[in-house]
Amino acid sequence: MNLLNVKNLRVEFTTPEGAVTAVNNLNFSLNAGETLGIVGESGSGKTQTVFSMMGLLAKNGIVSGSALFKGQEILGLSDRELNKIRAKQIAMIFQDPMTSLNPYMNVGNQLAEVLVKHKGLSKKAALAESVRMLDAVKIPEAHKRLKMYPHEFSGGMRQRVMIAMALLCKPELLIADEPTTALDVTVQAQILTLLNELKRDFNTAIILITHDLGVVAGACDKVLVMYAGRTMEYGSADDIFYRPTHPYSEGLLKAIPRLDIEGDTLPTIPGNPPNLLNLPTGCPFQERCHWVHERCRQDAPILDTFDGARMRACHAEAKQILETSA
Ligand SMILES: Nc1ncnc2c1ncn2[C@@H]1O[C@H](COP(=O)(O)OP(=O)(O)OP(=O)(O)O)[C@@H](O)[C@H]1O
Ligand SMILES: [Mg+2]
Repeated sequence: MNLLNVKNLRVEFTTPEGAVTAVNNLNFSLNAGETLGIVGESGSGKTQTVFSMMGLLAKNGIVSGSALFKGQEILGLSDRELNKIRAKQIAMIFQDPMTSLNPYMNVGNQLAEVLVKHKGLSKKAALAESVRMLDAVKIPEAHKRLKMYPHEFSGGMRQRVMIAMALLCKPELLIADEPTTALDVTVQAQILTLLNELKRDFNTAIILITHDLGVVAGACDKVLVMYAGRTMEYGSADDIFYRPTHPYSEGLLKAIPRLDIEGDTLPTIPGNPPNLLNLPTGCPFQERCHWVHERCRQDAPILDTFDGARMRACHAEAKQILETSA
């Protein structure tokens, strides 16, 4: 079943220096129970993409296009209408857990409050359900932790509390913005396994935002690779991970640590993303691309279908890129 259908999503910010297009004509869709990874370096527009759908853009931001959630347009809804959808049907885990957890309230009360408010449960029933959810996210001895405050949890445990809170109302879509970035590798892996299990048990669709293409490999069905607000490549996780056809995806892949290749330094993509206030004519990736040719400096490549189900925006031949990266 199609759950979310995003068409020509665009986010523009008005700034004293001029207009900034942080999200530029994105198209993607998500079925029930599917996981979509949105990947790109810092500033590529990942967070603003999901903020725009949740009605969370800063005041200087304007969204246009369409985002149909179960057939209902959610762009431009009033706060009152969005509150009916937020938490209950679409829940979000924010990039910084401390922005959503109240440091002055114990975790039990914070979780219970969500259920009292959105589901009308009694405080007692809400606390019991909160313990069940903390168990589900594998917090040991959950019942003993209800009285603890967020700062008394480790980073990994705090992230689990966030996931528990997001899942309390059994949303159909969970948006997780860099849920593992601040965590060490082992805890990162545990959280990803947990998300996979929750998806299996609750059939929750997930949008997983990360700058690390390695994270999406085991966790996602589809991947959207973003750069300077635009789609560079969009397709199945297997295609993007094993057969990338965009030089930017290729660069992100090479930057993933691998145990089977020796060497002390990881190749990183040289240079930095462009300033959105001052984008070059043509492809936004041209300055950093080893496939760059004359045409890339003149026209921005349009997003084209390739090989049936995938999309890419690049003037270089997909076949050539596939041959050299094989
Ligand atoms: N209120 C604002 N006014 C102007 N520009 C903004 C505003 N909010 C965000 N931006 C710009 O939008 C762009 C995309 O930001 P976004 O937060 O989506 O990046 P991101 O991909 O989530 O990066 P990160 O990995 O660092 O979280 C950035 O260049 C940012 O500076
Ligand atoms: Mg972000």
